[in-house]
Amino acid sequence: MNILICYATTEGQTRKIMRFCADEMLAQGHGVELLPVSEADPIDFARYDAAILAGSVHIGAIQEELCDFASRHHARLNAMPTLFLVVSLAAAGKDGSDHAELDKIAEDFCNAAQWTPGATHHVAGAFRFSEYDFFKTWAMRYIASQYGQKVDPHSDTEYTDWDALSAVLKGWPYTA
Ligand SMILES: Cc1cc2nc3c(=O)[nH]c(=O)nc-3n(C[C@H](O)[C@H](O)[C@H](O)COP(=O)(O)O)c2cc1C
Repeated sequence: MNILICYATTEGQTRKIMRFCADEMLAQGHGVELLPVSEADPIDFARYDAAILAGSVHIGAIQEELCDFASRHHARLNAMPTLFLVVSLAAAGKDGSDHAELDKIAEDFCNAAQWTPGATHHVAGAFRFSEYDFFKTWAMRYIASQYGQKVDPHSDTEYTDWDALSAVLKGWPYTA
């Protein structure tokens, strides 16, 4: 199958995750086109049999540019197997209310875009202090302290569970 992988990223972790997804899909024998959403349009959906869309959560929302893309192409997306990957730090924790909030963020995104993904998965992201400016550094240190986490602002900390992601991708898109 030919698979479109289209993503939005702010600090780069979703790009890294989507490169991993592309490698997994290639290893499963699929063709892959990996596109940042900013470069995706104009796009010819006739080229693809299935699509993965991914974005990351910042201050309770996923990138608007990705939502606009899904909205513009919702009819084509709804007619093919699709997977929605939502990258966040809350996904790394075990707090039930945080996870409910993530579900709501994904649901609001899909409602706004009129897109019904075949499946939605939350993927733990990273603290990327190397990409943060002064204010983001302090904001993220504060957020980390709220969760009782000690982070080193001089290095990046990755929470992405690559094995769990690989398990999600195994056998996708399901053809049965
Ligand atoms: C300014 C800022 C706000 C964030 N807000 C949230 C949030 O509301 N909920 C959450 O779970 N993670 C939040 N995060 C964490 C990001 O989702 C996480 O760092 C993710 O890996 C970013 O992916 P990206 O590098 O592809 O943009 C925030 C990160 C930053 C820098």
